[in-house]
Formats: sequence, C-alpha cells, structure tokens
Amino acid sequence: MASTIGAPRGTRDLLPDQTPAWDRVEAVARDLARRYAFARMEIPLFERVELFARGLGESSDAVSKEMFRVAGAAGSDEERADWALRPEPTAGVVRAFIEHGMHVRPGPLRLSMIGPMFRYDRPQAGRYRQFTQWDVEVLGDPGPAVDAELIELATRFYAEVGLTDVVAHVNSIGDATCRPAYRAALVSYFGAHVDRLTDDSRRRLQVNPLRVLDDKQLDPDLADGAPRSADHLCDECRAHFRSVLDLLDALGIRHVIDHRLVRGLDYYTRTTFEFVIAGREGQQQALGGGGRYDGLTELLGGRPTPGIGFGIGLDRTILAMDEQRVTLPKAGPLVAVVGTGPADHADRLRVAGALRDAGLAVRPDGSARKLGKQLESAVKAGAAWAVIVGEELAGGEVTLKDLATGEQQAVGIGSVAGLVRAP
Ligand code: HAM
Repeated sequence: MASTIGAPRGTRDLLPDQTPAWDRVEAVARDLARRYAFARMEIPLFERVELFARGLGESSDAVSKEMFRVAGAAGSDEERADWALRPEPTAGVVRAFIEHGMHVRPGPLRLSMIGPMFRYDRPQAGRYRQFTQWDVEVLGDPGPAVDAELIELATRFYAEVGLTDVVAHVNSIGDATCRPAYRAALVSYFGAHVDRLTDDSRRRLQVNPLRVLDDKQLDPDLADGAPRSADHLCDECRAHFRSVLDLLDALGIRHVIDHRLVRGLDYYTRTTFEFVIAGREGQQQALGGGGRYDGLTELLGGRPTPGIGFGIGLDRTILAMDEQRVTLPKAGPLVAVVGTGPADHADRLRVAGALRDAGLAVRPDGSARKLGKQLESAVKAGAAWAVIVGEELAGGEVTLKDLATGEQQAVGIGSVAGLVRAP
C-alpha cells in the first residue's frame, strides 16, 4: 500500500460533525452584518509582502516571524516570494479602498467578510496556521460612537452564538501626537529594568516598546508599575477614550480597562479592544480583537481616512462554545425516501424532488435492498421520517412513517411537508 499523506501542520479538516457549529457562527455573523448595515466585501487570499510590512509593521510578529510566503511559478517574473498569504485582512481592505477610489462613495463605509487567514506560528490548541476570521471594517468614521457600536456588535455576536461571560478589554494607545512621549516613558522605565526582561522583550524595547507590555512572560510586578498609555493621552485622545467608555456604560456593555492591551499590529491608534472569557484572562488567547487605525490609509498611500474594525476568531469561538457546551439550534427533520420496488428509482427521485420543492431535507435511498433494510439505514442516517413509495403513488399518495414511533399513514404527497413539520 502507498504511504498516506497528512494535512499540513497547523491546519484542520472540518468533518461533517463539526460543520453545524461553523454554519451556526457564520449564519449569526452574516445576519448581524445585515442588521448592522455592513456590506460584504472580498479581497485576495494573498497580497504583496510589502503591503503587510508597511501596514502591520516590520516589528509585528505577523510580519517578522509568521509570514507565509508565496512565490510564482518557476521561471516567471514572480519567482521570488514577494507575496504572502494574508495574515489578516485589514491591510488588504485598505489597499482595495485606495485602489478603487472608494473614498468617493457615500461614507462611512461599513464592510464585512468571513474567510481564512494564515500565520506561520507554532501550532497549539486555539492557534492554527490557517484559521478563520469574521472581519468588519468601518472607513471614514472618526468615532467615538462607532467605536462603541463595534464593541457592542462583537458582544452581541458572542451572546447570539450562545457564549456567556465574554468581557471586552479596552484601552487607548493614543495617536501620533501623544504616542512618542508615551514610548519614551516606556523606554526609560523598562530600560532601567532590562535585566528583568525576556530576550524577546529586549528586542521589542528597541523596535516597538509598547509591545513589551504584550509579552506574556513579562514579570507581573514590572508590568503593574509600567507607565500607562491612558495617563499619557493628549486632550483629543483622552476625550475620545472617555466618550467610548461612557457609551459602553450607557449601553450596559460588560468591559474592563486593560492598560496592557496594546495589540500586536502596528497600525492601531486610540481605541484598542479584545474579547476574552471572564476569569480566564492570561490563560487563553483572545476570542477576537480590533481597534482604530486612523493613520493606516495614509501610510498605504491614500488620503487620510479614519478607520476602525475587528477580527473575531471563529475557530476559538467554536472551541469556547464546545467548552461551554452550547447546544446548537435543532436542524429541521430529515426525511428518507424509500421504495418497495427494487427498480423504482425514478419514482423515489421524483417524490424526493417534490418534497425538496416544499423545502424539506431529503435523502433518497438509491439501493435495491429490501424495504426493511432501507428503513434501518434511514434511522442510522438520522432521519425522523420515511416516505415509502409504492403502488399508491399512481393515486398521488405515499406512506408516511414516523421512524421514532413506527406509526404510519397513507397521505397525499402535498401534505407530507405540513405533517413532518408539525410540532
Ligand atoms: P488579531 O488580534 O491579530 O487582529 O486577530 C483577531 C482574532 O483572530 C484573534 O483575537 C483570534 O481570535 C484570531 N486569531 C489570530 N491568530 C490566530 C491563530 N493563529 N489561530 C486561531 N485564531 C487566531 C487582526 O487580525 C486585526 N486585523 C483585527 C482588526 C480588524 N483590527 C482592525 N480591523
């Protein structure tokens, strides 16, 4: 026998018993996008490395360590790996916004997409090399009301998929006016304690001192004593942050201020937020996160346009649903169509077609086995009902059998849908 080939490390196959949860979270996300007036937008799965390097920052883990490079065919102009699979969608959305001159559209633009992202990270539970995000972006809205609206939207998403105890962590990391002084304060504070920093943090201190706060190994006492961005905001950033917090209070959104929440991508300004299960902070990775990126459009060559968005990790959302034993809404009943004649497949398929026209989920038996065997398979496949096709079909009737009770009755094809849907 030939040797078998496994899936790439850090990727997962979603088998049929796992996909109902995915269908559920994607349906909730799409329905919320509709109710919050977000329009669908799609961008390529790969972009120029340069876009991510400029957009997310050379020092971000996503760019410096985790870039999944893609090369063109051997011998082509793109033989060098100048593209990368998207580690996240925000840079690509802003690239498309600029490329298609979308600033002329009546704004603010509210965009939504669901799709795979790729990061060449060390795989572990809840961290994959291919994972799926529900991403929303708002371009052209300076806030602060939209900041609160997005945090409320994500909170509502977690509630509607059935999760409890999700809390929003929020912070403000200032803007180009106040960030330099805050960076300097961090450099001077951590610079005096270099001996207590991890190697990774020492490197971060050189290239992006805010990210020292993001180091999970950071000595907790050292972290507690660190200068806080909220104490270094300029007047405009402070007023913006205050308004966001007031709005969250007014809406009754569960949140805490998290002074260490600086986020891992460099494009953020002002509001940053992440969602975690209360009481499990630090032990597990965030279920989702986002923030404002008012400087990104300009950084990528467009006209200044404020932006804000979030990415919700659907893989981690589903893991949390499993942990909390969330039950999924019941799917409609499955109907098996079985036959008494071994060669009556045209009849079975015609009846199946009529029931599907009426909206039912139907699984016709394609075998020539005895009726009893067909009914056994129907039960194993999870069917609640069997429609038995026999001689009565000439008169427009079939036998409808309740597979749980074994009761059966002759009914017109047109009344099957109403009977199986009745409570
Ligand atoms: P992010 O925090 O890098 O933000 O990712 C958002 C979410 O994606 C995370 O909270 C997590 O749930 C999920 N995620 C990230 N990496 C992995 C992984 N390796 N395996 C499984 N899940 C993962 C962004 O990507 C930003 N683009 C969000 C944003 C949109 N900010 C503004 N607009």
